[in-house]
Amino acid sequence: MREYLLPKSGFRVLFVIGKGGVGKTTTSASLSVALAERGYRTLIVSLDPAHNLGDVFMTELNDRPRQLEENLYAMELDMEKLIKSYLKHLEDRMRNMYRYLTVINLEKYFEVLSFSPGIEEYATLEAIRDILKGGNEWDVIVFDTPPTGLTLRVLALPRVSLLWVEKLSELRAKILDRRRMIEKVQGQRKFIVDGKEMVLPSRAEEDPVMKELKAYREEIEFVNSIVTDPDRTSVVAVMNPEMLPLYETERAYETLKKFKIPMKLVVINKVIELEEDIPKLRVKIEAQRKVLEKVRESFSGMDRVEIPMFEEEPRGMEWLRKLGGLVLESRGDT
Ligand SMILES: Nc1ncnc2c1ncn2[C@@H]1O[C@H](COP(=O)(O)OP(=O)(O)OP(=O)(O)O)[C@@H](O)[C@H]1O
Ligand SMILES: [Mg+2]
Repeated sequence: MREYLLPKSGFRVLFVIGKGGVGKTTTSASLSVALAERGYRTLIVSLDPAHNLGDVFMTELNDRPRQLEENLYAMELDMEKLIKSYLKHLEDRMRNMYRYLTVINLEKYFEVLSFSPGIEEYATLEAIRDILKGGNEWDVIVFDTPPTGLTLRVLALPRVSLLWVEKLSELRAKILDRRRMIEKVQGQRKFIVDGKEMVLPSRAEEDPVMKELKAYREEIEFVNSIVTDPDRTSVVAVMNPEMLPLYETERAYETLKKFKIPMKLVVINKVIELEEDIPKLRVKIEAQRKVLEKVRESFSGMDRVEIPMFEEEPRGMEWLRKLGGLVLESRGDT
């Protein structure tokens, strides 16, 4: 049994990552079926805007957890809805912070933002944070992810955002410093907004921008503390026995290391196993053998499991149960 995939202290979080089409959805779905079968209350969430989790379970899913079996719940994020609500949330916060800046047309600004690069990553991170906040409802939360690039950018966001917040807080502190200096000379500056008198804040405790930065930092630190905790989070990398997926897995591993996110298992999916020699496939099989050897070298210290290429697409509960057992319990390749 792969203990590092089971809950230890509180709920366990699994991110199943990999290149497009290698079998992330199949692997994450089967893992969640196997976990639920063993009594763990499991939620599987598809973070992929191009959802196919429902196809693998052979049922319809939406953006609320839907019970599929005892202990097994599944949902697919609605990216468009998320981006909209993320921007709305931002807009409200901005409006609250900059009440005195009535000249800025926030609506126009946010209309443009909804097409800005990076917005999908931020909205996804917000959704992950929301799910983790309610994490105690579950024993295990499995995230089926979009192809590597987007996923790594999302997973890098907490660290990157913390750096940003730190810099912005320093800047804000300097601004408040200057304001206090000016106050000493000129007295407090007052404004009239919507008929109400307002004072330009000069102390961190009463500055809405500083408060917002502090609140944001706490939100991000919460996500970061979970995704960097090896007792909580394990990344499962899925690849096929081919060179390009191998390179991508190696790069993902390096990136995750940089962000201190623990990767624990490499699943090599769709390994061709022949019962008899087929001359036409010799070259392919030889290439596969080489990749498998390289995987052993590159990930010598890490748990690895090989899943055969099946004759049909492994979909539906029966298949997922069988596959999940393999991923969760089969002996690793040493
Ligand atoms: N071990 C296997 N044997 C045979 N077919 C498989 C196996 N694993 C996955 N497949 C098939 O390969 C295809 C891709 O699998 P899947 O959708 O799980 O990959 P993915 O990595 O989630 O893809 P995407 O990047 O598009 O989200 C599907 O048709 C699936 O049924
Ligand atoms: Mg998928």
